[in-house]
Amino acid sequence: MSENSKVNLEKRGRSSDFDNTEVQEYERRRKQLTVQTLSRYFYDLLQAQCVTKNKPRVFLGKLAETESVKAVKGPLRADNANKLLVSQKLKDIFDLPSPNSRVFPCEGANGIFVMSDCVGLMEPYDVNKTRKQTTRVEIDAILSNNPIEFWDHSRISDSSEEGRKLSLSFLLQLAFRKVVGTNDTHPKNFIIDRPQNIVISIDDAAYFKDTKFMFKSNLKQKHSEYEAVLTLHWTSIIATLSTWVHQLENLTADEKAELFRLGVVAKNIEYSRSMAIKLCDRVNWEFKEDT
Ligand SMILES: Nc1ncnc2c1ncn2[C@@H]1O[C@H](COP(=O)(O)OP(=O)(O)OP(=O)(O)O)[C@@H](O)[C@H]1O
Ligand SMILES: [Mg+2]
Repeated sequence: MSENSKVNLEKRGRSSDFDNTEVQEYERRRKQLTVQTLSRYFYDLLQAQCVTKNKPRVFLGKLAETESVKAVKGPLRADNANKLLVSQKLKDIFDLPSPNSRVFPCEGANGIFVMSDCVGLMEPYDVNKTRKQTTRVEIDAILSNNPIEFWDHSRISDSSEEGRKLSLSFLLQLAFRKVVGTNDTHPKNFIIDRPQNIVISIDDAAYFKDTKFMFKSNLKQKHSEYEAVLTLHWTSIIATLSTWVHQLENLTADEKAELFRLGVVAKNIEYSRSMAIKLCDRVNWEFKEDT
């Protein structure tokens, strides 16, 4: 293994060198600090996912004042938080369904927390629904086992009215991710929100980077189904993408100011606009296995 790939693995916490108590102790303390901070504002907190070293955690919990269930991600560096907030801002401009992500101001935190509405819960949130998981950095981590409804590739062939609505909603969220240039299109980042029957995209930080395929994972066997829904919804998709292009060309002074405050430079807005134009061409919806 090259030194470079070893360094990368270590950063992500997957190297065997990493399998040590020092890292586990570091993560235990990092988690304790986060829980201590968030507990002042939320109750029934449960960690949502396993983490690798230094990765922000996502916690689910109820916001004390309103009792609504939220997902809180952090601690994040300001630049990484802003990448998520840029996406949220663009979803607002495009009138695209979103989890309403915003900065959650909390004192004592070692970084920024971004709070979103918790979407996709299939049953009422229950703090007692947990599972334990052990990874290289966390031993017996107690995680939320509250079921959340994610997108999965088999839904693309559902031709019921509800299935078609979800497919269109999914395709628009997929297009949005291209427009903001984020390449992580794992189905776990697409949550189904009921009873509205819409797909909501999470974890879509705006990197403004080009990636080759609409979907990275193994979709070869779904290629014809995907082509069929794309054909079915094409007019609608084109209309929405054209609206986005128009909205990017005519950003209001307030919208521009907010985007620039979040660190979006003019060339990134131009990137999004040209990506939306590019996506109006079917050829750019290539949907196959990444190698
Ligand atoms: N708004 C939300 N509503 C419901 N569940 C959420 C929400 N945000 C996050 N989650 C849950 O937390 C999990 C992890 O969230 P997220 O995708 O933001 O982080 P991640 O994938 O661990 O981070 P990264 O991709 O940066 O490594 C999701 O798969 C989902 O189960
Ligand atoms: Mg994710």
